[in-house]
Amino acid sequence: MKNFTSVHDVPQIDALVKKALAYKADPFKDKSLGAGKRIGLLFLNPSMRTRLSTQIAAQNLGMEPIVFNVGQEGWALEFEDEAIMSGSTVEHVKDAAPIMGNYFDILAIRTFPSLKNREDDYSELYIKQFIKYAGIPVVSLESATLHPLQSLTDIITINECLKASPLPAGRKPKIVLTWAPHVKPLPQCVANSFSQWVNAWGQADFVITHPEDYELDEQFTKGATITHDQNAALEDADFVYVKNWSTFKDYGKIYTNDPEWMLTNEKLSVTKNAKVMHCLPVRRNVELSDEILDGPNSIVTQEASNRIWAAQAVLSEILSAH
Ligand code: CP
Repeated sequence: MKNFTSVHDVPQIDALVKKALAYKADPFKDKSLGAGKRIGLLFLNPSMRTRLSTQIAAQNLGMEPIVFNVGQEGWALEFEDEAIMSGSTVEHVKDAAPIMGNYFDILAIRTFPSLKNREDDYSELYIKQFIKYAGIPVVSLESATLHPLQSLTDIITINECLKASPLPAGRKPKIVLTWAPHVKPLPQCVANSFSQWVNAWGQADFVITHPEDYELDEQFTKGATITHDQNAALEDADFVYVKNWSTFKDYGKIYTNDPEWMLTNEKLSVTKNAKVMHCLPVRRNVELSDEILDGPNSIVTQEASNRIWAAQAVLSEILSAH
C-alpha cells in the first residue's frame, strides 16, 4: 500500500481486517517494523480519537509520531497552484510538503471540507496536493469527503461482532445507515466513507435512510437500498450506523432537524436487537439518545477503541511496502 486515502487503496479488505484483529490480539508483535522511522500527524482541524489512536498505533510499531496542529500553530497554507498569495495564506503547500517529506517517512493529514463549495471540497485538493508534493506515503486522517480509517474501524467492529455472535448460515447481516438530526451542518465524510466501504466489502444487505433531499453522492452509495422511511429501513437490522450529514445537492445546508429521526429504544424494537454504531463525537439527545448510548445495544466505545488496530494495520502495510 502506497497511500491510504480511500477504500480504493486497499487490495483486500478482509486481509486488512484480519491484520487489524491480529494486532488487537498481540499489539507489539511487529514492534520493530517502524524502528528509526517517523510519522508526521498534521491536523488542520480538531480531533480526539484519530489523533490519539494513530499515535498509539505508530508507537506499537516502533515509529515515532510527531503531531503538528497546523490549523492552530502553523503558517496558514495555500493549496491552489499559481495562487497570488496576497491574502491570508503565508506558505504554499508546494514549499511546505517537500520539507515534511524529508522530515518524515509517512505523512498523515486531517482536513475538513468548507461546506461552501461542493466542487472545491469534492476535488480533495488538500490531500492531493500533499500527495503530489510530499514525495512520501500519505494517510488520510479524514479528508473533505472521506474518513477511511473510521470506515476500516467500522468494518473491523462489524466483523468482530459477527464472529462473537454468528448469524444463521447463509444469512447476510443487514446494515442500516441512518441520518440523525444535528444543530450544525456537518460534512458527508463519514456517511460517504461508510457507504463506500460497506459496498466494497460486499458482505451485507445495506440500506441507507434519510429525510428527503439528503441524498449522498451516488459514487459512494450505489448498490445500497435508499429509503426515506426510517422505520421500514430499521426492520430486521443487525447493525444501525447513526450519523448526521448536511445536504449534498444544495450543498452544506440543514433542511430539517426533525427530532423524530433520533434513534430511540422504541425505534430499535423492530430490529434484530441491532448493535448501534456512531463514529463519535456525538451530541447526546440530539443525534442519539441517552437510552441508546448508555444501553446494551451501543458498541460505540468498542468501535472507537478499534481505531488503534485499524491505524496499526494501515501503517504496517505502508511500512512493509517501503
Ligand atoms: N471519529 C473521529 O474521527 O473522532 P475524532 O474527530 O475525535 O478524531
